[in-house]
Amino acid sequence: MRTLLFICGSLRAASSARGTQRALQAALAGACAFDEADIGVLPHYNADITDNPEVEAFKRQVAEADGVVFVTPEYNYGIPGVLKNAIDWASRPGYASVFKDKPAFVITVSGGALGGARAQFQLKYALSAMLARVFPYQEIVVPTANDKMKDGVLADEAIISFATTALTAFIAEL
Ligand SMILES: Cc1cc2nc3c(=O)[nH]c(=O)nc-3n(C[C@H](O)[C@H](O)[C@H](O)COP(=O)(O)O)c2cc1C
Repeated sequence: MRTLLFICGSLRAASSARGTQRALQAALAGACAFDEADIGVLPHYNADITDNPEVEAFKRQVAEADGVVFVTPEYNYGIPGVLKNAIDWASRPGYASVFKDKPAFVITVSGGALGGARAQFQLKYALSAMLARVFPYQEIVVPTANDKMKDGVLADEAIISFATTALTAFIAEL
């Protein structure tokens, strides 16, 4: 069975990105195994830090995953700093990192009407900088995400169904 590593771009307890992740994991139960990264424990990127256990554990998670699924909100038209920090850590050594050739899938959420589309573009561009293999598919976004949560889980059947179809295709190619 393939393993998907989920990387959530929000740290807050009631995160709609995390709620979206939970709904997709429930929909995909049995189709693959899941791992989750805790990017909040990573230090600020500093090239002088060469032996941090959390960084090494995160890079190992990426290396061992068959595919990586990002579920992130948009902050100020871009990627949340905590997610960019994690990406920067895992991106070294440049062009030869754990993300090189790694299958990647991007989902964005937002409180607004665009569903984080701008952050999605930015994240895919950063992934291409690391030579990751971004899954080609229509953009999957969750607009007004907080209004679509029920008991901490995304409760929008149309979005869940669309995203599950896409993720099933992603898993089939791993
Ligand atoms: C610092 C910050 C910046 C934000 N910038 C944007 C933005 O540029 N576009 C947008 O649609 N929503 C923006 N939002 C609203 C978030 O999309 C919304 O708070 C969302 O629920 C955050 O994701 P979460 O529920 O997973 O924590 C911003 C929120 C914060 C805290």
